[in-house]
Amino acid sequence: MERTLLIIKPDAVEAGNIGNILKIVIDNGFTVKTMRMTHLTRDQAGRFYAVHKERPFFDDLCTFMMSGKIVPVALERENAVVKLRDILGETDSTKAAPGTIRALYGTSLERNASHGSDSIENGKIETAFFFGELEF
Ligand code: CMP
Repeated sequence: MERTLLIIKPDAVEAGNIGNILKIVIDNGFTVKTMRMTHLTRDQAGRFYAVHKERPFFDDLCTFMMSGKIVPVALERENAVVKLRDILGETDSTKAAPGTIRALYGTSLERNASHGSDSIENGKIETAFFFGELEF
């Protein structure tokens, strides 16, 4: 079974949308393998998004991701990476298709309510960033 990481971001946690987002994910056939609520330091946010270190939006992204609590969720399903990205919608919430999680609960490119792994390899790396094998 394929594994992917969903992060419910600070804007969605703050707005009370944890349950709404988890319901959509579960209704779409995902199994929640493990999850937690946490609050990243700048160093942790920077390490999680290290691939974007040279991008102009990196500092703002880290500032946003440490601005409040987040909920990382390890999910499994057949074709989990692609399917999660489908139901999240486009990265920019203002361009995401109606009914997708980012359209419903995000408000901009930065405040887009959620993150999903972009490849099978990153699904493994990103779930391992937050969770140990024992938690599965
Ligand atoms: P996420 O899926 O968490 O991965 C990286 C995040 O950077 C992305 O969602 C966006 O919220 C954020 N971001 C901010 N500006 C940009 C940009 N210009 N291009 C891509 N992602 C951006």
